[in-house]
Amino acid sequence: MAIDKTLYERLGGKSTFIKVHKIFYDKAYAHPWLSKYFTDKPQELLENQQTDFMIQLMGGPKRYSGKSPKSAHQHMLISDELFELRAQLLSDSIKEAGISDALREEWLQTDATFQRALVKTSEAECIRAYPTQAILNFSK
Ligand code: HEM
Repeated sequence: MAIDKTLYERLGGKSTFIKVHKIFYDKAYAHPWLSKYFTDKPQELLENQQTDFMIQLMGGPKRYSGKSPKSAHQHMLISDELFELRAQLLSDSIKEAGISDALREEWLQTDATFQRALVKTSEAECIRAYPTQAILNFSK
């Protein structure tokens, strides 16, 4: 029965994640505000890491070997507004990839579970991995 399948399987497997993340990071890297956080990171790397991470989270093969989202973003000041803007770009990307509204909702719900771990209200909440690490805090 379809209900027994993982979200990863119901989304059609790895090729769906590759497709969505290509569309999504094209938008993120072109966005006047969001792109400021990605200036020194190759887009392909982010696409691959996000793909492995979400596949693992949604019941697919365990291949992700990066940091946890909380520690990967600990030096970034991410507001609720920025988080929600990113979520809108992700929603648009899933739609453009031809995925059903029901599956898009499930994907977005999974993504939104990270909002509390990533959002900060001041630089005082940011943590540097080493003393000279830059805090990423950009306004619109
Ligand atoms: C507005 C919100 C977000 C911004 C601005 C943002 C930005 C970034 C940036 C700049 C990196 C590269 C970090 C580095 O390599 O030093 C990164 C990595 C990553 N992000 Fe985000 N991100 C956001 C939200 C999210 C969310 C919601 C998730 C998960 C659902 C996520 C998952 C990841 C993953 C898995 C990596 C790779 C970490 C690693 O390679 O160790 N991000 N993000």
